[in-house]
Amino acid sequence: MAAKGRIVWVSGPAVKADGMADAKMYETVSVGDAKLIGEVIRLTGDVAFIQVYESTSGLKPGEPVVGTGNPLSVLLGPGIIGQIYDGIQRPLKDLSKVSGSFIGRGITTTPVDMKKKYKFTPSAKVGDTVEPGNIIGKVQETDLIDHSIMIPPDHPGGKITNIVKEGEYDLETELAITEKDGNKIPVKMYHRWPVRKPRPYQKRYDPTIPLLTGQRVIDTFFPLAKGGTGSIPGAFGTGKTVTLHQIAKWADSQVVVYIGCGERGNEMTEVLVEFPHLKDPRTGKPLMDRTVLVANTSNMPVAAREASIYTGVTIAEYYRDMGKDVVLVADSTSRWAEALREMSGRLEEMPAEEGYPSYLASRLAEFYERAGRVKAQGSPDRNGSVSLVGAVSPSGGDFTEPVTTHTMRFIKTFWALDAKLAYSRHYPSINWMNSYSGYLTDIAKWWSENVSDEWLSLRGEAYGILQREDTLKEIVRLLGPEALPDEEKLILEVARMIKIGILQQNSFDDVDTYCSPEKQFKLLKLLVQFYKNGQQALRDGTTLVDIRAMPIIGALLKARMEVKDNELAKLDQLGQTMIEQFKSVRGVTVTT
Ligand SMILES: Nc1ncnc2c1ncn2[C@@H]1O[C@H](COP(=O)(O)OP(=O)(O)OP(=O)(O)O)[C@@H](O)[C@H]1O
Ligand SMILES: [Mg+2]
Repeated sequence: MAAKGRIVWVSGPAVKADGMADAKMYETVSVGDAKLIGEVIRLTGDVAFIQVYESTSGLKPGEPVVGTGNPLSVLLGPGIIGQIYDGIQRPLKDLSKVSGSFIGRGITTTPVDMKKKYKFTPSAKVGDTVEPGNIIGKVQETDLIDHSIMIPPDHPGGKITNIVKEGEYDLETELAITEKDGNKIPVKMYHRWPVRKPRPYQKRYDPTIPLLTGQRVIDTFFPLAKGGTGSIPGAFGTGKTVTLHQIAKWADSQVVVYIGCGERGNEMTEVLVEFPHLKDPRTGKPLMDRTVLVANTSNMPVAAREASIYTGVTIAEYYRDMGKDVVLVADSTSRWAEALREMSGRLEEMPAEEGYPSYLASRLAEFYERAGRVKAQGSPDRNGSVSLVGAVSPSGGDFTEPVTTHTMRFIKTFWALDAKLAYSRHYPSINWMNSYSGYLTDIAKWWSENVSDEWLSLRGEAYGILQREDTLKEIVRLLGPEALPDEEKLILEVARMIKIGILQQNSFDDVDTYCSPEKQFKLLKLLVQFYKNGQQALRDGTTLVDIRAMPIIGALLKARMEVKDNELAKLDQLGQTMIEQFKSVRGVTVTT
C-alpha cells in the first residue's frame, strides 16, 4: 500500500513527513501539492526524512506526501544517447535550462521519446529459452551506437512464445513475449532500473587493457585501465575540467557519460556548446552520437547532485552490458560530497571530519566500485567496461581534506593537479611526483603486444630521470646549478626536455590535443635515447655546453606539435638526425 503522509517540517531540500509508516527506505515519493520528486533517506517510526530533488520554495507543512512504491529509477532504452539530462533523468531541452532557470517543478516528462520508432532486427526466435541479459535483437540508436535489446536483469527469463519481425517499432511495443511457469511477460525496447543498485554481470576481469586518452602524461606516465578508476584533484582553475573534457573527447571508449555535478553552469554550457560541434576522432561523426550529459549545475537543487551521480553510473552500466566500453567523468565529486554534508546537517546527524557525514567514505566507495571490465550477463558472450573518473575540488588545493583522502582509498589512478605548474603554464598541470597509477604493470603487456616491448622500461627510465631531477633540484636551490657535475646537469637538461616535449600538452592545439600511443612511444624513446647518447658523449669527453648547443634539441621539443600522427616516420628521421649530431659533436660512440 502506498504511504500517504503529511509534511511536518521543511528545511531547504530536506523535508520531514509523518504518517509514513508504509514507506520504504529509498522509495521515491511525491512531495507537496506541487508533486515534487523526493526520496526517503531515513525512516524513524512513521516519520520519513525525504530529500527533494527540486526546489522546495513555497512548500509548507500540512501538504501531502505520497509514496510511489518504487525506488529512484532510470529508464534504459534507445534515445538516451545525445540527451542532456538533469539529475533525475529529465531531458533539458535547451541550454538556458542548464545555465539559467531550470525545468518547471513537478513536471514529469519521459526521459526518451516513447513514440519514436526504431528499426528492430530480432536475433532470437520463438521457442528460444532466454535468461536475463540475453540479447534478443538490435536497434540503431545513433550512427555510432547499435543498441542491444536485452532481457532485463530482473526478468525471470523463460521461453519466447512470440517475437516481432524485423520492422519499425516504438518503445512501448511488445517486441517479444516470454513464458515461464504459465506467466507471460512482455519484453519492450526499454526497462527501468533502480539507480542505487549496481547492475549484475557474470564476472569481473583484471584491468589489463589501457583506456587510451591521447594525453601523454596520462597514457605514458599515469595510465588508466578500461574498467578502472581515476581521480583528478586540483585547486581552483588548475585544469580539472579541461582534463575531463579531453578524456571525454578522446578516450577510446564507445560511450561517454559526462556528469556536471554542482559546478558552475557556464562550465557545463561550454560542454554543451562545444560537444555538439565536435567530431568523433575515429569516425568523423558528431561526438554527441555517443555521449550522454547529466547536468546538475550549482544553481540547480542540491539534493539532485547525488541523483546525478547514480543516474549517470546506471546509464553507463547499461551500455556496458551491451558489450561497450564506457567512460564516465564526473565534475566534481566534491560538490556531491558537499550536498551530502548539507543534507546530513539538516537532518542533524552526527558529523565526522569537517562536517561531512560518517558515511561519506562508503558512498564514495559504492560509486567507484561500480567501475569494472566485466563479462556481461546472458548470451551471446560479450565484455564491456565502465571506467570512472572523478574530479575533486579540495579548497585551497589541500589534499589532506576528507573528500580527497577518502577518494584516494578507492581509486587506483591519481592525477594530482598542481597550482604551481598551472601558474607557470605547464599544462596539463599534473604533478609527476605526486601522481600515481596502480595499473602500470597490468597494462604493460598490452603495450608490449600492441606498441613495443620496450615501453615499460623506457617509461621507467624517463620517470627515473624526473625523479632524479626532483632530488637534484634541492641541491640546485641551495648551491646553484654550477655545483653539479656535468652528468647531473645532463639529468636536469633531459628532465626539462621531458617536461616540455612530453608532459606538457596543449589541449587547444590541433595536433597536440591528441597523441596516439605510437607517437607517445616514439617521443619517449627519442628522449631516452638522447639521454643515453648524452651520457656517452660526456664519458667521451664532450662538454655539456656542446650537448646543449645541439640543434636537434629544439626539434625534439617541438615534435609533439609539429609531427602529426599520420607522419610518424618524421620522428624516425629525427632519431637519425640526433645520432648524426651526436657523432659530429665529437665522433662519439653512439647508442641506438
Ligand atoms: N591541457 C591544457 N592545455 C591548455 N590549457 C589548459 C590545459 N589545462 C588547463 N588549461 C588552462 O587552464 C584553465 C583552467 O582550467 P579548468 O577550467 O579546467 O580548471 P578547473 O580546475 O576545472 O577550475 P575550477 O576549479 O574553476 O573548476 C583553462 O581555461 C585553460 O586556459
Ligand atoms: Mg572546472
